[in-house]
Amino acid sequence: MEKKTYYITTPIYYPSGTWHLGTCYTTVVCDALARFKKMDGFDTFYLTGTDEHGQKIEKVAEDAHKEIHAFLDERIDTLKKLWSVLGIKYDKFIRTTDSYHKEAVKKIFTKLYEKGDIYKSHYEGHYCAHCESFWTESQLKAGKCPDCDRETTIQKEECYFFKLSQYGDRITKLIKENPDFLQPPSRQNEMIKNFLLPGLQDLCVSRTSFKWGIPVEFDKDHVIYVWIDALTNYLTALGYASDDETLFKKYWPADIHMMGKEIVRFHAIIWPAILMALDLPLPKRVYGHGWLLFGDEKMSKSKGNIIDPFELCARYGVDSVRYYLLRDISFGNDGLYTLEAFLRRRNADLCNDLGNLLSRTLMMINKYFNGILPEPVEVGEFDSDLIDKISELYPKVRDMMDNLMVSEALSEIFKVVSRANKYIDETTPWILARDSANKQRLGTVLYNLAEALRIVGILLKPFLIDAPNVILDALSVENPSSFEGTIKFGGLKPGTNIKVTNKLFDRIDIETELLNVEVNNSMNNQTIDNSINNQPNETVQVLQEKAPAFEKKPLIEYAEFAKMDLRVGIIKNAEAVKKSNKLLKLTVDIGIETRTIVSGIAKYYAPEQLIGKRVCAIINLAPVKLCGVESEGMLLCSSNVAGDVILLNPGEQMNGGDLIS
Ligand code: MSP
Repeated sequence: MEKKTYYITTPIYYPSGTWHLGTCYTTVVCDALARFKKMDGFDTFYLTGTDEHGQKIEKVAEDAHKEIHAFLDERIDTLKKLWSVLGIKYDKFIRTTDSYHKEAVKKIFTKLYEKGDIYKSHYEGHYCAHCESFWTESQLKAGKCPDCDRETTIQKEECYFFKLSQYGDRITKLIKENPDFLQPPSRQNEMIKNFLLPGLQDLCVSRTSFKWGIPVEFDKDHVIYVWIDALTNYLTALGYASDDETLFKKYWPADIHMMGKEIVRFHAIIWPAILMALDLPLPKRVYGHGWLLFGDEKMSKSKGNIIDPFELCARYGVDSVRYYLLRDISFGNDGLYTLEAFLRRRNADLCNDLGNLLSRTLMMINKYFNGILPEPVEVGEFDSDLIDKISELYPKVRDMMDNLMVSEALSEIFKVVSRANKYIDETTPWILARDSANKQRLGTVLYNLAEALRIVGILLKPFLIDAPNVILDALSVENPSSFEGTIKFGGLKPGTNIKVTNKLFDRIDIETELLNVEVNNSMNNQTIDNSINNQPNETVQVLQEKAPAFEKKPLIEYAEFAKMDLRVGIIKNAEAVKKSNKLLKLTVDIGIETRTIVSGIAKYYAPEQLIGKRVCAIINLAPVKLCGVESEGMLLCSSNVAGDVILLNPGEQMNGGDLIS
């Protein structure tokens, strides 16, 4: 029997911006969904790519003094590297500069013109170059672009128009009568209220004021509007309007177009209108997810509130990042990123729940059965509840994924992980092990736990990259590519070799980590920039509590060293910082004034030991808030591998404010 197909797309990414954790969101979700559908027996096609034309890209390349193709190639390399770091497995990566795409777009434009859906006229109105969007006076918000809040410019030029106004009624009907078409439901109201009810206007679909685009075949002074070029990628990637339309015939219409909510109107209004004009079937679903926020605002380069996904993956591992995005953000809604929430989620679910279940189970099978999986013999107390929960898991997760309840699906899987941990506490295998008469019962308990881990490991495969492999490898299970036949309780063969593995996830001391990151950020004044030139920093290691191995830093010029204002300070007062067992708040006399300096030395010095101590302080470090207290400098310490930390002493004859150089 032929497999059912499933065609899933992300928006194609602008190569001009900075890719931050927010921009990764759509792609990570689609990747999990595509992997799930593949394992669920669908012939899945997952498309992503880049949106490379338009005035904005032309300008960014120019500002970077780069030839545009070379600029784009570099950027696309970095984006592909990002997808590889995040474990994204797409079936096709389309670039709108690919020649097959350009040829097909020209044909589509010509076809629409010949059918009378495109006509030539003049445009005069507001244009946002950043969003490549046209706006009417009434759509502007306080005179600015309603999407990005930037200034718009008045554009007046000859251009081609698409008769969007003719499709308003059909699109309103589509959205109202097919609630599945546009999801989540809140987006339906937004589209109807903001765009369809006020009435659609014809859309300007060509430009003459710049050249970086696909030319109109029959009027070479015009390039095709970038959103027409971009949206049609969903067709051209499948070979539409090319010599070989096999993939198009197989996969179109798309099962789902996924995107962030700010570009829903392009996908739920303009795109169906184009498809209607081309007499093509419409996508089955358009889904506009919420935004990842950071500090109450949408994470975005222009706001400067971004988190570098390369760095986050290097520091905490790709599984932690994927798990956080998929589990912590309720899909469809906005979600607020904080490092603390990220770390808590990682510690609680991955490190404690999953990590402990794995290490306890493997350890006990090795200790009590020499690493050979025992045979389950009888169903005892607590077993049926665990086995029932495991058996019900797959259909539940499948239903949730079909309804795009991604976070809930993961939550169900982790409920079984918790249930299995509780089962260990209920059955107390370590007590059973004390009496050889209980050997069979002990074997049954450990078998059930191993089986719980196997099924959890398989179901986690679409969501996480490394952990499922570690789990399945430890159980000597062949890594399945399908749920079929592998997800039924009882699949593990007694007698299988069970290995002991390294910890799945190292526990992170959240307070220390937050402090380290805060200090690091303020010292480096870290702003990420994977936008142009910069290659991602993939070498960041998780900060160690102890001093790291000796590692030479690069040479610096004296002038750089001389920028530091190093002074002798005398500690006048010292007290613990509330809610922290690492920090002390110190009042330090630096000659001309006293400073509040927060120092992470509470483990090494009692406050009363410090009063009157002479210390070396850097006093021109930008202030930073640590656990709510503003620190106006930093004290120098030496530390060794044994974990000793000692404040540097400049000598008793020195006074507060004396120079250190
Ligand atoms: N090029 C257009 C799409 C054309 S599709 C025919 C575009 N590109 S983008 O690079 O700006 O956005 C890529 C994806 O990242 C979009 O789904 C967008 O919504 C998403 N996000 C960008 N910032 C985001 C957050 N802060 N949070 C969640 N998603 C966000 O738009």
